[in-house]
Amino acid sequence: MKYSFIILIISAIMLSSCTHDPNDPGRAYFPDMAYSVPYDAYTTNPVFPDGRTMQTPIEGTVPREMIPYQYKKTYDDQLKAGLELVNPMEANAGNIDKGKAEYFIFCSNCHGMSGKGDGHLYTSKLFTAKPTDLTGDYIQDKPDGELYHIITLGSLSGLMGAHGGQIKPDDRWKIITYVKNKF
Ligand code: HEC
Repeated sequence: MKYSFIILIISAIMLSSCTHDPNDPGRAYFPDMAYSVPYDAYTTNPVFPDGRTMQTPIEGTVPREMIPYQYKKTYDDQLKAGLELVNPMEANAGNIDKGKAEYFIFCSNCHGMSGKGDGHLYTSKLFTAKPTDLTGDYIQDKPDGELYHIITLGSLSGLMGAHGGQIKPDDRWKIITYVKNKF
């Protein structure tokens, strides 16, 4: 009897908290954290002439740490990249190891850990285009700059996609250092 009385009281207290307006977020104990001081991204803004918080970048500027790629996805530009770009990575153990790790993540599923184009996506027939054998003369004789161009923008036929958005410039060069020294 005593217990049911206590349960009744607790239920009454709990139920009373349900009577509020469901859209009321309740009391903010830390208002400075609940309501941010800066303008939120998609809000109107009295400071800028167009009244928006998000501004388009000023023409001719690039975001910090973004290195623009100056070549287009054409055969001529691929050859040009091959002549003009120099692999800044020394073929030391640290760079080759890092290149191998990045190759494992971004290339091996198609080109295979052996580099012969026997990666899982191809052998399982999930991806039907035959990945190029990276161990053959065709690739081994290509200038590093051309390989950098292919990794950055993808192959000219479009069968291999661009990886420039996923792999940092230094790591692209390290992958090439690995491909050229270990295959
Ligand atoms: C989704 C599968 C896939 C992935 C991932 C992939 N490739 Fe490829 N790659 C291909 C295919 C397919 C071709 C052949 C298509 C072609 O020549 O257009 C190819 C071609 C190439 C070529 C030769 C291109 C040419 O012009 O002949 C190089 C070099 C290359 N890949 C390097 C890499 C490197 C390095 C990576 C990792 C950063 C990578 N690929 C990731 C599928 C892939």
